[in-house]
Amino acid sequence: MPTKLTFHGQSAFTIENGTHSLLIDPFFTDNPVAKIAAADVKCTHIAITHGHFDHFADCEGIAKANDATVFAAYEICDYLGEQGHDKCEPGNPGGRIETEFGAISFTQAFHSSSFNGKYMGMPCGLVVEFDGAVFYHAGDTALFSDMELIGEIYKPDIAMLPIGDRFTMGPEMAAVAAEMIGAPSAIPMHYNTWPPIEVDVTKFSPEGIDVLVMEPGDAVELETE
Ligand code: NI
Ligand code: MN
Repeated sequence: MPTKLTFHGQSAFTIENGTHSLLIDPFFTDNPVAKIAAADVKCTHIAITHGHFDHFADCEGIAKANDATVFAAYEICDYLGEQGHDKCEPGNPGGRIETEFGAISFTQAFHSSSFNGKYMGMPCGLVVEFDGAVFYHAGDTALFSDMELIGEIYKPDIAMLPIGDRFTMGPEMAAVAAEMIGAPSAIPMHYNTWPPIEVDVTKFSPEGIDVLVMEPGDAVELETE
């Protein structure tokens, strides 16, 4: 099966190939735009950018139900261990972990990270190498100039960037980010889930980059080696 990318709303995606399926930032239960329930999600691996509820709330339940390996900041893995899920691969910005499908690297993100009042370590972006395709999921972040370095080093094929403003970059700054990263395609995320992050997606128009606007539930198949 070719690599398939599905968007679930907010910052949640699945990347799968029929053997492995990686769920990023699971948020279904309290996600007003999600098309499926957390109980119906199947995955072999989960990757978390940071501990905020709109990225992490459904992680514990889905990880346990699927016996999935969770890649996340050290403190998030510690927390999951306390909740009885030990199948975790902790990391921190700068680190790369090889996996069955490729690799996951943690990058910097300018944000915060907590869950139920508890400190959840550094917020991160993720670089996912999956069957030869490279995805940069920026997590929740402000624009920062080292995004150019992330583009140079990892050479992502697709960048997933938050554009909802208020808690992250807005669409204009995310467009600057997309141009700095230089991935041929960019997918906007983290917008229009609730009124505080409602934005006009057409304002996300980086020059020379294909913008792929995905509605929750949309899936695309990718050409990979
Ligand atoms: Ni956040
Ligand atoms: Mn968020």
